[in-house]
Amino acid sequence: MAEKSTTTGTVDVLLHEERAFKPDPNFTAKSVVRDDSLYREAAKDRELFWARCAQELDWFEAPKSTLVWDPPNYRWFEGGKINVSYNCLDRHIQSATRNKAAIIWEGEPGEKRTLTYWDLYREVNRFANVLKGLGVKKGDRVAVYLPMVPEAIVSLLACARIGAIHTVIFGGFSADSLRDRIKDAEAKVVITADGGYRRGGIVQLKSTVDKALKECPGVQDVVVVRRTRRDVDMSDKRDHWYHELISHADAFCEPEPMDAEDTLFILYTSGTTGKPKGIMHSTGGYLLGAMMTTKWVFDLKPEDVYWCTADVGWITGHTYVTYGPLANAATQVIFEGTPDWPERDRWWKIIERYGVTVLYSTPTAIRSFMKWGRQIPQNCDLSSLRLLGTVGEPINPEAWIWYHTNIGGGRCPVVDTWWQTETGSIVISPLPGVTTLKPGSATRPLPGIEAAVLSDTGEEVKHGGGYLALTAPSPSMLRGIWGDQERYRDTYWSKWDLKTYFSGDGARRDEDGDFWFLGRVDDVMNISGHRIGSMEVESALVDHDKVAEAAVVGVHDEIRGQAIVGFVTLKHDQEPSEEMEQILRKHVADVIGPIARPSRIIFTGDLPKTRSGKIMRRLLRDIAEGRVLGDVTTLADASVVEELKQKYDEEG
Ligand code: WTA
Repeated sequence: MAEKSTTTGTVDVLLHEERAFKPDPNFTAKSVVRDDSLYREAAKDRELFWARCAQELDWFEAPKSTLVWDPPNYRWFEGGKINVSYNCLDRHIQSATRNKAAIIWEGEPGEKRTLTYWDLYREVNRFANVLKGLGVKKGDRVAVYLPMVPEAIVSLLACARIGAIHTVIFGGFSADSLRDRIKDAEAKVVITADGGYRRGGIVQLKSTVDKALKECPGVQDVVVVRRTRRDVDMSDKRDHWYHELISHADAFCEPEPMDAEDTLFILYTSGTTGKPKGIMHSTGGYLLGAMMTTKWVFDLKPEDVYWCTADVGWITGHTYVTYGPLANAATQVIFEGTPDWPERDRWWKIIERYGVTVLYSTPTAIRSFMKWGRQIPQNCDLSSLRLLGTVGEPINPEAWIWYHTNIGGGRCPVVDTWWQTETGSIVISPLPGVTTLKPGSATRPLPGIEAAVLSDTGEEVKHGGGYLALTAPSPSMLRGIWGDQERYRDTYWSKWDLKTYFSGDGARRDEDGDFWFLGRVDDVMNISGHRIGSMEVESALVDHDKVAEAAVVGVHDEIRGQAIVGFVTLKHDQEPSEEMEQILRKHVADVIGPIARPSRIIFTGDLPKTRSGKIMRRLLRDIAEGRVLGDVTTLADASVVEELKQKYDEEG
């Protein structure tokens, strides 16, 4: 066992493989899942297993079938009638849970609000009536562009209550990104705020919406949550204040009985082309996946105070902030701000203040805390914590150990959860009372999930590396790409055969059969756990009038996992300069959003291309990461690479 490790790399992973953490019997004794019976039950009859799990949901009408699989399509729980908001609220208010805290919210400037299940139920009912009053009907799309305020959760549940399809757009996305998503989804209503707080400043959400809507004639109404109380332009007919509408709304709204397969939401995520994909999720299957995995993986019990730090703009904020915890009647913390504002101890103070027991966060956050030093968390009382989780990117063993030792005090299991926007809920993860943990490994598929590592040609790799594939559909997996079922088939179900889902991730299995994730194998980058397509950033760069051509790659970054590097060829009359680099970086942030801002731009006279004219991103990645160059035999002009490499090395 090596004393010290570097942050990534297979060698490091191999060194740590011997280090394993067996479950503590005291933890297991009190866990939701205490033995491997769920795995065994699921292995015996997977469909029956899910059908049994589905009995934990409240159905208006029971499903008539469990799975109908017509590759690449599948339908779960057909004939079943259900409402997601009913399952997250109505059934809890019939018991003592009525006055249990559902959401303990803290704003960035420090305000605190607690909503019990009863409070949340009333607010959701009222807002559902507001949406109805605006003419929103079952199947209509509603775009949500909000900061992390309770109204975000209320909006999602209100849509679910009346059967409207929500599409949340992360508040850090630009007006152009917002416009593209609103247009693609053909949203009728937009829910936003007069602003959101970020590191003491204000994110101007409303003016961004105004800009985006100049090109979205289909949007009839905008509902504006009052958050910052700053002046914003309100257009007479189109814009309404949330608090005004809700004050006149009726207190009860009948939950719409939805078919299990009706679409609950669309969430856009990056792919390998310039156009984001609208991932569609179902009602019954999605909710089941969200509810069961939250309970199993986070070992949720009524007395827990659970905190998932994700923003509602990402899938984690849908499944593990909104639907999973609420379906389980959990008490959760929601925080609007960032870990380092106003000080770097903000998260630890929150844990101390509310007695958080389960924390679900990201490798990027953990690596930032490591950099800031363990004294900061050590000054706070973190003894309430009993379980830690991570998601979004591979966690390097060094960060895992740091998290386990310094945040978990050596006593909290760490669950490394692998999943995607497309899978809807966690796919590969330890169960904390059962699984032997290995720092850096997400261990094995959850009960009811069929996953494998496959070679390029589709043979199963029992020990060794390949691609992560899902070999049977699970209830919460995507049902399609909004408006583009061909792309759905091509992207996910065509690498091997129509029954095998291609994840886009490289993975390896060790001698025990445990899974280790190695990052994306396609042209999708992962920056701080956020997916950004190389092509999206490339189109943003060539959109600038001084740019002739651009290629974008993700390179290793100590904190954020990856950083974006753009290789740019300027138009012939343009001179590269530092100023130009800054202009282009800002341009990308303006076009897509600050999360897509490249860390570096390298100017080059030419880009390495194959003889057929395809840009060789792989070679650029090699150059940017200082590796020995790969095969250049297919290159149209090999000297381009040598020049580029020299230039990159010189610029450091
Ligand atoms: C990556 C986030 C390694 C992976 C829930 C996947 C991970 C992409 C892990 C999905 C993990 C997520 N270990 N890699 N535990 N979790 N990923 O759609 O590359 O935003 O394909 O969903 O994040 O990102 P998405």
